[in-house]
Amino acid sequence: MTLAGKRILLIISGGIAAYKALDLIRRLRERGAAVRPLMTAAAQEFVTPLAVGALAADHVFTDLFSREDEQDVGHIRLARDCDLVLVAPATADLMAKMANGLANDLASTVLLATNRPVLVAPAMNPAMWAHPATRRNVETLREDGIRFIGPEAGEMAESGEAGLGRMAEPLAIAAAVEALLDDGPKPLKGRRVIVTSGPTHEPIDPVRYIANRSSGKQGHAIAAHLARLGADVTLVSGPVTIPDPAGVEVIRVESAREMLAAVTAALPADIGVFVAAVADWRVATSADNKIKKKEGEGPAPLALTENPDILKTVGHHENRPRLVVGFAAETADVIANAEAKLARKGADFIVANDVSPATGIMGGDRNRVRIVSKQGVEDWPDLSKDEVAERLAARIAEAFQA
Ligand SMILES: Cc1cc2nc3c(=O)[nH]c(=O)nc-3n(C[C@H](O)[C@H](O)[C@H](O)COP(=O)(O)O)c2cc1C
Repeated sequence: MTLAGKRILLIISGGIAAYKALDLIRRLRERGAAVRPLMTAAAQEFVTPLAVGALAADHVFTDLFSREDEQDVGHIRLARDCDLVLVAPATADLMAKMANGLANDLASTVLLATNRPVLVAPAMNPAMWAHPATRRNVETLREDGIRFIGPEAGEMAESGEAGLGRMAEPLAIAAAVEALLDDGPKPLKGRRVIVTSGPTHEPIDPVRYIANRSSGKQGHAIAAHLARLGADVTLVSGPVTIPDPAGVEVIRVESAREMLAAVTAALPADIGVFVAAVADWRVATSADNKIKKKEGEGPAPLALTENPDILKTVGHHENRPRLVVGFAAETADVIANAEAKLARKGADFIVANDVSPATGIMGGDRNRVRIVSKQGVEDWPDLSKDEVAERLAARIAEAFQA
């Protein structure tokens, strides 16, 4: 019951993703939150107030000039009698109103009148999201302190189009709400943490690259849990298809060299956690133009060269973080390799896991890790990647304070 006692005003605006708001209400309520729904006129074209009210077990507010509602709650109280205002889905139209301070219906009036944190989950066609007007509005809203979750890349429900604009999934929105309203202990408050996550892509030519199967799920979850403990987290992420974790600054990179540059630019930091599956090698000289297949000739040879070792570089850096944690993904001799890595890379502990295909760990949702340090080896049970992240964040906080 991570949201027990929290009151959320959920504003549903008129996009096709309004149907996902129904699931979102369930997800928030099963975490203990009270959800008070408010729907725009357009939202009611997509889902009915009856369904929304039944799931929320509360009255659905729809009308600025409703006599009963004004006497009963009133739009100002509606705007303030909550811990968080959540807009999901947020249409381009409603964000434009928010960015310009319009207040010509109940949703926009409440958003202008509220003094509570506001979290927005945009959902729209990729062309609408990419439009300069929407870009300007998002920028303005960020400057105004509005928080965002998503949108994600993927297929649009209505148009058969794909791109950036899909509303974040209800579970991801619920996690962002948890992160925002979390009032648990903050042992890492004020501490700067760098986390790397995901794979790297090493270009062969402008259209081809060498990659690996890392999904970024473990690194992103660790970044989220460190942020939850109060840390200021910079997440340097290789190319992934999962959403950004709530409450962290994300720097997107492609190659190992870009990742190293982003990590060293983020130094100094108190703690570094290097989860990314960085390619050991890159193509020595990537071609400027697409390498053409030539009839009768075999494939072009690929000469590889070693990539920089990010963990080792940071482990021996003049601005080395006080605590350095590395990951060792192995398919054989897991512990021996992790122990060797500990000394060679200058890490305080190595989180070792067996990523042989049979384990399903690469890309999967579960992980079984061993923590290798000078003190010995801790064997953790099979856990979800989120549970591993939560435990590891707590372990890092403990080690940092020791
Ligand atoms: C079928 C259909 C789907 C729509 N989907 C979206 C959407 O996903 N995102 C969006 O910003 N607008 C969408 N619109 C347009 C909005 O409904 C329209 O801008 C409306 O004025 C929004 O009102 P509101 O912001 O008060 O809810 C859609 C319209 C239709 C007819």
